[in-house]
Amino acid sequence: MQQKIIILDFGSQTTQLIGRRVRELDTFCEILPYNKFPKDDPSVIGVILSGSPYSVHDPEAFKVDLSQFVGRLPVLGICYGAQFISHTLGGKVEKADSREYGRAHLETVDTENPLFKGFDQHSQVWMSHGDTITAIPEGFTVIGSTKDVQNAAFYCAPSHSVAGEQNPSAVANSSLFTLHSSLEKGVWAVQFHPEVYHTVQGTQLLKNFVVDICGSKQEWSAASFVDSTVAELKAQLGNDRVILGLSGGVDSSVAAVLLNRAIGDRLTCIFVDHGMLRKNEFTQVMEDYKGLGLNVIGVDASNKFFADLAGVTDPEQKRKIIGRDFVEVFNAEAKKITDAKWLAQGTIYPDRIESLNITGKVIKSHHNVGGLPKEMHLQLCEPLKWLFKDEVRRAGRQLGMPERLITRHPFPGPGLAVRILGDITREKVEILQNADDIYIRGLRDYKVKLSGEEARRVLAAGVPADMQDGTIEVSLYDQIWQAGAILLSTVRSVGVMGDERTYEHPVALRAVTSTDAMTADWAHLPYDFMAKVSNEIINKVRGVNRVCYDISSKPPATIEWE
Ligand code: XMP
Repeated sequence: MQQKIIILDFGSQTTQLIGRRVRELDTFCEILPYNKFPKDDPSVIGVILSGSPYSVHDPEAFKVDLSQFVGRLPVLGICYGAQFISHTLGGKVEKADSREYGRAHLETVDTENPLFKGFDQHSQVWMSHGDTITAIPEGFTVIGSTKDVQNAAFYCAPSHSVAGEQNPSAVANSSLFTLHSSLEKGVWAVQFHPEVYHTVQGTQLLKNFVVDICGSKQEWSAASFVDSTVAELKAQLGNDRVILGLSGGVDSSVAAVLLNRAIGDRLTCIFVDHGMLRKNEFTQVMEDYKGLGLNVIGVDASNKFFADLAGVTDPEQKRKIIGRDFVEVFNAEAKKITDAKWLAQGTIYPDRIESLNITGKVIKSHHNVGGLPKEMHLQLCEPLKWLFKDEVRRAGRQLGMPERLITRHPFPGPGLAVRILGDITREKVEILQNADDIYIRGLRDYKVKLSGEEARRVLAAGVPADMQDGTIEVSLYDQIWQAGAILLSTVRSVGVMGDERTYEHPVALRAVTSTDAMTADWAHLPYDFMAKVSNEIINKVRGVNRVCYDISSKPPATIEWE
């Protein structure tokens, strides 16, 4: 049975990050809403309580019945999780005099405690809370303090009685007391965030919890995932035929190769070219797919898309037309495969996590399968549904896929159509493809040396690079989440080329850093790189006489312009 850690989500922005850190420790984990702890699941080896936008004193704050797991399983409370443990078991949580936010250092830390094994004194941690714990519950001991936060980390040892008669508030407040008068497993709580990079030994702390305290055997890896998934797919699909829509992106590509390993040619892939992909992308990606032994049908449907988009300028309208046409073209191809029983999709774990917003309502749940022809009665197969993006990349490498397919930036389904302001024509798409191509090739060719925190962050995201003398060399392309050019075809400006006046369109360049596309920051690209790319675009791309760089973050802007 596969061991797992349960992460209960109280609505923090960093909950997914906790999940990714646990997976990096080769340990499977599931992120569940705070009130959905799975009863009677023997594979659970430990529980982590996340942070939250709430204060424990808010009437609408999320509450969990700790007696479901405290005492029976090791528990780690992070930030709000720590405050909730303290508040519920008889400690005291009060508004901090000033919000405790940013870097701090552990002035004292009990390195004898298993949670802090291997920790350095003065280790840097990251705080982010408005409340602070002014008294810890009876039976708990402080194991870490910073200059401003006395109770930065505390714990209750296994077998320690929580229900001290001398602590009536614990008795009064704690449903825990009624179920457990002693603890078989300990409870740990930290007010800082071990999951963020700024907590320098955060990974060590999580490893101490997950491996040493919870007893993870660290059996979750790309290799084990590939082996077990191929075996499961073989058993699930038998001799059935499967259809999969390829987009050129990493998720659908990895899903296809995995399925191909399991069922070979009984997988048919369909790759629709709507005419608004990047320069030469359709041909290149088709070649890559064929090189991987995939059975792919490439459909050039660009005439239909351009005809239906003619004269349309409204962004939503463009998206609707492309979405509708895509389904029509895909379905027409799919129907030709008359004996297909399954539709495979590259859905990944973040697409399925039910994330909570401040009202406690689920803001994202399992996405719908859109536009599938009902009469085909296809069942859904989602082989990547448990993976985070970096794990998909690792699985891709394990499957021997080329690096350019694996590290490809996300690209929107409607393609360059949402990167051209105004109506879409073949000519405009070609102008944008040429500018975009210069930009993206430039990003791939420009190498930077990174060390320290920056290098750790890039390596943890799965970018393949060799560390030498504490330094790694990576391309700008690999350092950023996503980049692309936008043609402002509704705008013209005056320029001068040689002796001639020009009156042409600007191109905007966009590059963002992000971990999940929910929020993003504009990438601080080097000036010499921008100068070179701008020069090359203006000199080589006819129709463009000006280049701008988009310095908007998300929110309030979005990554795409339309
Ligand atoms: P926004 O513009 O909403 O984009 O900040 C967030 C992420 O989603 C991608 N994106 C899309 N992906 N179909 C897709 O498959 C779409 O219609 C679509 N629109 C945006 C975008 O590129 C970014 O990664």
